Amino acid sequence: MSVFIFTGTRPEIIKTAPVLLELVRRGIDFIYIHTGQHYEYEISRRFIDELGLPEPHVEFALNNSRPASQMGEIMIRVEKAFGELKKKPRVTLVQGDTNSVLAASLASLRFGIRIGHIEAGLRSYDWRMPEEHNRRMVDHISDYLFAPTELAKRNLEEERVLGQIYVTGNTVIDAIDLYFDRVAEVENSVLEKVKYDEFALATFHRAENVDDPKNLKSFVEVLRRFPIPIVYPIHPRTKKRLEEYGLLNTVKSLRNVQLLPPMGYFEFLALMKNCRFIMTDSGGIQEEATHPAIRKPVLVLRSSTERPEAVQAGFARIVGLNPNVILAESERLIASYPSLPDKSPFGDGKAAKKIIDLIEKDLL
Ligand code: UD1
Ligand code: UDP
Repeated sequence: MSVFIFTGTRPEIIKTAPVLLELVRRGIDFIYIHTGQHYEYEISRRFIDELGLPEPHVEFALNNSRPASQMGEIMIRVEKAFGELKKKPRVTLVQGDTNSVLAASLASLRFGIRIGHIEAGLRSYDWRMPEEHNRRMVDHISDYLFAPTELAKRNLEEERVLGQIYVTGNTVIDAIDLYFDRVAEVENSVLEKVKYDEFALATFHRAENVDDPKNLKSFVEVLRRFPIPIVYPIHPRTKKRLEEYGLLNTVKSLRNVQLLPPMGYFEFLALMKNCRFIMTDSGGIQEEATHPAIRKPVLVLRSSTERPEAVQAGFARIVGLNPNVILAESERLIASYPSLPDKSPFGDGKAAKKIIDLIEKDLL
């Protein structure tokens, strides 16, 4: 059996790592394509190197960054890569909801290759999010839908998707299990760099947040008035927008905010482990915070989440982008720290094994 496996952005590399390593462990033939949607070393290659992943067989240097042109370019390049192969792989594995995932899936569909969607069935029901467009479309053209939770499975059943649905857990939990030992190697040096004894950890990068100057200004206002110091590794997209709207120097001048470049995975896990709580609009971080080794409350800077399991389990709270609401919720967290479950709602760390078992059983 031969498998195509794709990554394009930072979270895809991290969440695909356990699946790639499982393919290697079982000696299954695969072709690894990195689309290069994320192209800067700090949010792309660094993770392939750090996580000890096999070298991609194919890696694109994309010329387009606007979404439709970028997806078009990825499809053209994937089609070319497929065409150059002597043997057609039987399945394409994609993870998540990025533009790379949609482009790789559409190209595979037209090439007659089955599609396995890892992290299928998430829904925010927020049509402003490009990720919601991507995940809906990919779910409807996939043959294998690897839903992380029972709720994700129900979402897919309600939409009557055509493929087979399997509940596997989320590979993000597998990744923490696989790599958590490495945190000890970097923990002291990371914490030495942090200027504060006690801090909240922030990230912020979603298109609907940072491309809207009003939302970006609200975030800066929150940083300025936050009740405890903040450590903030900044995503390149957000840095560009802050610069564009003349806000970067304001953020840099805040004495209660330590701005950091994007962190490596082990360093970031160390920051999550040691912070008081997390404030973010990231998807993956909402899941990681529920892992027993991290177990941190999360304020979600959005009006919806496609990961309501974290809210139901008591880890996450949707706080939107109104500074007064966010600040009140932060004060509340500081005054009374919630007791959190010791089990993640996103699985038992065996998702990658289950996914490859299912593929092997069906296609061998
Ligand atoms: C993408 C995903 C998002 C995911 C995020 C992970 C889509 C629609 N979005 O968002 O779901 O949460 O990755 O971090 O696929 N840029 C750089 N350097 C890079 C990459 C991007 O500076 O290496 C800047 C460029 O100006 C680019 C912009 O960020 O135009 C947006 O990049 P893009 O990959 O389209 O989206 P992300 O916001 O990173
Ligand atoms: N992450 C990291 N360094 C950072 C910020 C995040 O390694 O400075 C990791 C984090 O642990 C998680 C993933 O990147 O696994 C989340 O990526 P991001 O928030 O960019 O994307 P999303 O999950 O929202 O799609």
